[in-house]
Amino acid sequence: MTPVLVVFTMLLCLHTSASSAVTDTILPGQALGVDNKLISSNGRYALGFFQIGHTANWYLGIWFNTVPKFTSAWVANRDKPIRNTTSLELTISHDGNLVVVNRSTKSAIWTTQANIKRNSTTAAMLLSSGNLVLTDSSNSTKVLWQSFDHPTDTFFPGAKLGWDKVTGLKRRFVSWKNLVNPATGAYCEQLDPSGVDQLLLLALNSSIPYWSTGVWNGKYFAALPEMSARHSISPKFVDNDKEKYLTYNLVAEYMDPNMVTRHVIDVSGQAKTFIWMKGSEDWVMINAQPRAQCDVHAICGPFTICTDNKVPHCNCMEGFTITSPKDWELENRAGGCSRNTQLDCISNKSTTHTTDKFYSVPCVKLPQNAPKVEAAASASDCAQICLSNCSCSAYSFSDNRCSMWHNELLNIRQLQCSDTTNSNGEILYLRLSAKDVQSLKNNRRGIVAGIVIGTGISTLGLFALVLLLMIWRNKNKRSGQIRNESEVCDGITAFRYNDLQRATNSFADKLGGGSFGSVFKGFIKGSNAIAVKRLDGAYQGEKQFRAEVSSIGAVQHINLVKLVGFCCEGSKRLLVYEYMSNRSLDVHLFGSNSMLNWTARYEIGLGVARGLAYLHDSCRDRVIHCDIKPENILLDASLLPKIADFGMAKLLGRDYSRVLTTMRGTTGYLAPEWLTGVPITPKVDVFSYGMVLLEIISGRRNSCPTVPSGGNTDVYFPVHAAHKLLEGDVGSLVDHKLHGIANLDELEIACKVACWCLQDNELDRPTMGQVVQILQGLVEITMPPIPRLLQAMAGSSHSTCSFFVSGKRAALHV
Ligand SMILES: *[C@@H]1O[C@H](CO)[C@@H](O)[C@H](O)[C@H]1NC(C)=O
Ligand SMILES: *[C@@H]1O[C@H](CO)[C@@H](O)[C@H](O)[C@H]1NC(C)=O
Ligand SMILES: *[C@@H]1O[C@H](CO)[C@@H](O)[C@H](O)[C@H]1NC(C)=O
Ligand SMILES: *[C@@H]1O[C@H](CO)[C@@H](O)[C@H](O)[C@H]1NC(C)=O
Ligand SMILES: *[C@@H]1O[C@H](CO)[C@@H](O)[C@H](O)[C@H]1NC(C)=O
Ligand SMILES: *[C@@H]1O[C@H](CO)[C@@H](O)[C@H](O)[C@H]1NC(C)=O
Ligand SMILES: *[C@@H]1O[C@H](CO)[C@@H](O)[C@H](O)[C@H]1NC(C)=O
Repeated sequence: MTPVLVVFTMLLCLHTSASSAVTDTILPGQALGVDNKLISSNGRYALGFFQIGHTANWYLGIWFNTVPKFTSAWVANRDKPIRNTTSLELTISHDGNLVVVNRSTKSAIWTTQANIKRNSTTAAMLLSSGNLVLTDSSNSTKVLWQSFDHPTDTFFPGAKLGWDKVTGLKRRFVSWKNLVNPATGAYCEQLDPSGVDQLLLLALNSSIPYWSTGVWNGKYFAALPEMSARHSISPKFVDNDKEKYLTYNLVAEYMDPNMVTRHVIDVSGQAKTFIWMKGSEDWVMINAQPRAQCDVHAICGPFTICTDNKVPHCNCMEGFTITSPKDWELENRAGGCSRNTQLDCISNKSTTHTTDKFYSVPCVKLPQNAPKVEAAASASDCAQICLSNCSCSAYSFSDNRCSMWHNELLNIRQLQCSDTTNSNGEILYLRLSAKDVQSLKNNRRGIVAGIVIGTGISTLGLFALVLLLMIWRNKNKRSGQIRNESEVCDGITAFRYNDLQRATNSFADKLGGGSFGSVFKGFIKGSNAIAVKRLDGAYQGEKQFRAEVSSIGAVQHINLVKLVGFCCEGSKRLLVYEYMSNRSLDVHLFGSNSMLNWTARYEIGLGVARGLAYLHDSCRDRVIHCDIKPENILLDASLLPKIADFGMAKLLGRDYSRVLTTMRGTTGYLAPEWLTGVPITPKVDVFSYGMVLLEIISGRRNSCPTVPSGGNTDVYFPVHAAHKLLEGDVGSLVDHKLHGIANLDELEIACKVACWCLQDNELDRPTMGQVVQILQGLVEITMPPIPRLLQAMAGSSHSTCSFFVSGKRAALHV
């Protein structure tokens, strides 16, 4: 008997230890050590101790258990890291609270501090929702404490963002301090404390909201109308006499079960939505609000200039240096930049005989929040007033207004001004020590001197000039020969940076802000005009870049912009395209003096469809464009449309979706698949094409939120269009600028095509090849159903009409 009993006991032990490894509960008397974790019963979340990066700090927290890249979603002790894990454990204390204790000293390091009746026994459990709850063992529905009431930066499905009117408990999300430190950071997402039914993003230190969702109208937030249609998420806004909060749930039938979503207020101050799809190696950001990084209050810190759509966003002003490069690297830029040289008025303590000077910073957007306005008759008076007060750090003088900023200068934003378009940029006069101004001027003079000497040489005599040119040419030839071997086949030229710089007159003539960099006009000998796209940000290595470029170059079609060359030197990446004299489609559709007649529009729609059909079906390896929008459709001298920027997805690699989804104006064209996490197919282009086709018809941006529908609700234009189509009233959809002159048969076909392209389910959408045939009149097209997502937006029937969560706009503005 005895041996059997022993075996039996051993099995039991094995069993309990195995099950304790995957438990979700801590009972009184049990403890969780540093090497153990709780796992929720659905396996999605884990709770335990962890370290982030290479710091010595330990935290107790919850993370995504199914995501290979460690990502924490809740931290118990964000502001009180644990330095030493010897004898560390998580257990239930005598008073019933969940505590982190030092086993040897019995001292509590962290506790839930719940108000627990004496002598009641409690248990802690990590629920499948990711909520860690402390409950009364005699009544497990009685929650004594829960992690959802003390959130960190992540909005879990089912959690509440808001407050409890009875207890006064406020739940809000606060960003991390920097990328590796979960301590309370600078930015916060919360319900509007003034009582308005909206969410705000604000800087904790200033309480200045820099973004808001607009008022909740029962279905979605007012500022987010076109993004409200998401079946996968159902939001709920509750306001009763006990509590007021926003919550949301994921709707299982619309979700890929393997997909993990994450809503977080990021170190960047943006509320971001990420998805992790099975098989992806990283979180894919599908949405960020505010979209422009520079909209975030003080994102770069004091004495910096923020530039949107550029990496890095933040740069020090002239005369300043990054205060703490280490923090800066980790995206905590609260310290901003510091003066290279102390102001004279401070170092010499004299405000009357200061030698401080002003340095002009052109083409910036000045902070709007109440600069001090002084009475001054002229710019020099204004400067004098600033000099007379040592705390004055800058002034501006325009329209006879003298504005002045004291102490730290925040929220200065770079605008893109060219000679021709002055986009309301202002000049800031920055106060610097005389020494710094002098050295900055010397730098500027260096450039000027070079030019003067250059001109001087040419006036010396023609002979000298010719000689110089010959030498220069020879040199050029030689290095050109060296480069020849790197010339890629298919007629793509590898340019040297210097050549492109010369061709574009040092990037003087900017054609546009482009999607992934700026585009400049240039000329190369023996060729027509070119457009040079200078990519910004970090891109792939040289070898990969060349490979991708040559595969893009091999894709040629009359409706695709031709890639003629590239440049890849050091970190510089440029693409050279044929130049399109009629710029891009948006200029013609939405510009004030746009004049595309119906026939031209129809031909453009057809041409774009042909180009896409070629990309999808006919060329060697299938290319999905991923970013079809009017800005990426260029027109040549005879208004023939040519698709630009194809192949960028490959060129940019993993950064692509990030850039794509943060970019202003792009998201309005994105298909729902970007959000629901199914693999991306050519049908995403079909969806975007549908959006563009509607804009070609209407001459207006779909994303301009609303069309008055007669009732008291406004309707998102694509919804309006779908309804008009069903009602047989396509005539009212066409651009007013055409004064009703349009071929009604073609108009109806185009509307039907657009509406079919916008169907939620990619299988319902036509292929681009089919679109071409339909537009050519070779194939009949039936009446499309109203796309469900659009319908949900209009709020017609379902209460499942989803919106998006916590005010972060969904990436698609369907
Ligand atoms: C933690 O404390 C123990 C005992 O005091 C000590 O031996 C150990 O070095 C400490 N560990 C760290 C990482 O400081
Ligand atoms: C626990 O106490 C021991 C003895 O004072 C100490 O060495 C150890 O570092 C402590 N551990 C923690 C986690 O504080
Ligand atoms: C708690 O338990 C102790 C001993 O078991 C008992 O003396 C005491 O009265 C109990 N207190 C309450 C409030 O039930
Ligand atoms: C258990 O707790 C819940 C919530 O506090 C309460 O509504 C319910 O009446 C309790 N049940 C029992 C049996 O005490
Ligand atoms: C807020 O301001 C205080 C005092 O000015 C400063 O110590 C703190 O670091 C600031 N916090 C953040 C997150 O910037
Ligand atoms: C302070 O003033 C003195 C006399 O005016 C001048 O020589 C000195 O250079 C000034 N110091 C600085 C730091 O400008
Ligand atoms: C300088 O300006 C600040 C801010 O306007 C003001 O508070 C301060 O009194 C001024 N100092 C002097 C000496 O005028």
